[in-house]
Amino acid sequence: MSLPIPEVAVTLRVNGADHELRLDPRVTLIDALRDALGLTGTKKGCDQGACGACTVLVDGKRVVSCLMLAAQAEGREVTTVEGLSRDGALHPVQEAFIRHDAFQCGYCTPGQILSAVCLLAEGRAGSDEEIREFMSGNLCRCGAYPNIVAAIREVAGAGGSP
Ligand code: FES
Ligand code: FES
Repeated sequence: MSLPIPEVAVTLRVNGADHELRLDPRVTLIDALRDALGLTGTKKGCDQGACGACTVLVDGKRVVSCLMLAAQAEGREVTTVEGLSRDGALHPVQEAFIRHDAFQCGYCTPGQILSAVCLLAEGRAGSDEEIREFMSGNLCRCGAYPNIVAAIREVAGAGGSP
């Protein structure tokens, strides 16, 4: 018989707001975001680090949140798709995805958009090849890749992502 694992106190800073939680220390960041905080924009695909659907930003860097424990994110700045809009206006990458029809079912889209925001900030959207390479961790079952590249290329051409 295994003993119950005591919960731990974890303060998560998500989209600029602190959340004090008590969690099983084995809870992953994606489960804390979706189940404890109700931020269901972050999607779970493979739950094994292989599809990118669960991508969020941690301290501005891309992280597959199914492979990170929530406790590991304590003291760090987590950004989910819900945190990208400003004053009711969509982020330029979100607007470009809409303009370019860069999704079909939309399941992979939050992860795609967060990856795109990060690669634009890193200056890694210099060519279609570079965009494809640095977006290669985000899979799309619907095959929206050409439109995704076009959306990112447009934002890059406009001077990148704020
Ligand atoms: S759900 Fe995390 S990488 Fe697929
Ligand atoms: S839009 Fe359907 S999985 Fe990408």
